[in-house]
Amino acid sequence: MVDFQAPKGVSEYVPPRGALFAEALEAFTASARRACYGRLEQAVFEDTQLFVRGVGESSDVVTKEMYTFEDRGGRSITLRPEFTAGLLRCVLEHGLNNGPLPVKVWTAGPVFRYERPQSGRYRQFYQFDLEALGTEDPAIDAETIAVAWDAYAALGLRRLRLLLNSLGDRECRPVYRKALQEYLRGLDLDSETRQRIELNPLRVLDDKRPEVRAQLTGAPVMTDYLCAACAAHHDRVRDLLSGLSIPWSDEPRLVRGLDYYNRTTYEFDHPLLGAQSGIGGGGRYDGLSEDIGGPPLPSIGFAVGLDRIVLAIEAERAGVPVSHAYSAQVFGVPLGSGAQQDMLTLVTALRRAGIRADMAFGHRGLKGAMKAADRSGASYAVLIGDHERSAGLVRIRNLENGEQHDVPADAAAAWLTERLPAEGDTVR
Ligand code: HAM
Repeated sequence: MVDFQAPKGVSEYVPPRGALFAEALEAFTASARRACYGRLEQAVFEDTQLFVRGVGESSDVVTKEMYTFEDRGGRSITLRPEFTAGLLRCVLEHGLNNGPLPVKVWTAGPVFRYERPQSGRYRQFYQFDLEALGTEDPAIDAETIAVAWDAYAALGLRRLRLLLNSLGDRECRPVYRKALQEYLRGLDLDSETRQRIELNPLRVLDDKRPEVRAQLTGAPVMTDYLCAACAAHHDRVRDLLSGLSIPWSDEPRLVRGLDYYNRTTYEFDHPLLGAQSGIGGGGRYDGLSEDIGGPPLPSIGFAVGLDRIVLAIEAERAGVPVSHAYSAQVFGVPLGSGAQQDMLTLVTALRRAGIRADMAFGHRGLKGAMKAADRSGASYAVLIGDHERSAGLVRIRNLENGEQHDVPADAAAAWLTERLPAEGDTVR
């Protein structure tokens, strides 16, 4: 053992499980690419005030969960607890909003929240995040949801539920907020929750305690208070989703943990994940740009938790082996240092032809190297020793049926590429 462990709550992936993580990320990346979203890479840390003003002063994320520190220059810095506020800052700073709208972008990477770690809930976790900025068109709401939906489907996740709600806008939400506060003030609640009624009453609807939930059954819901414009927007989004054969459930009590949302809000829920069942979520944030000092820029987006997607894949695909994307197709066994140069040359030629090839390192002798070949999952082992080198041959062994072929060294790469499917990418 070493003297150190990863800090509490950090999620890490090592092979072979790392292949599942890569698969999850690739499914979302590919879906975003097909819908013409561009890649954006943004700061990992930001000015703390961006999150205070952007994510919301009364949100749990800002009050309890941020990794905030003073840097050596005396600035208050925060590790990103989510992407949206920083992404919008980045889009505005680079003036993308002055070009064609909507700006369609995605990003991915680690985010940081000081939460109580448990299965599916970490302090460093990974999100894929996609945003469409600069249009109020409800069709973009449906498009972003469809990009996520198709990525989940490509991963074989079928037990997913899309929970949909509308949080109204500046016109109708205050009326609802007041009605909700009046209702909540009449309940039997502890003092902390009473304070929340005044600060952020919608969050009370998200309380998980049974004694609170029991009292919330008659609470007014936002969808009954939507103004005509918000109701029309909500109906249009639902019609468009039906047109795309994407099933949703109306969830009038759905509240998100971040304060910038308005109108369309949604979550993707996976029933096999227990308490941490939210594997993605998003919505509109039409006022966020102005909240951080920018021009009006109505926008929508979502983020998915890649860690929870890996858990969902494992739960739904129980018993199905991890993908072999990173296992070898050919494994080289060089015997002696002269053979090493020849083998590295052959393995590199195979890789350039799109074949996954690996070889034994460290002069381990025939027995040890053949064991490594068997473990590698390869279909063929290639042996080069003194005898083969002097004859200008390589020995190729089919590891599935034990057949052996002596092939001229300069024809070996072609012999193997003819018999193996290429991964797709070839280097010219
Ligand atoms: P969020 O719902 O806070 O939204 O996070 C999105 C997803 O990140 C969740 O659905 C969940 O899968 C995952 N997640 C959240 N916290 C944890 C954690 N502690 N451990 C593991 N996974 C976690 C946002 O972050 C918004 N920025 C989404 C968005 C984009 N809205 C508009 N655009």
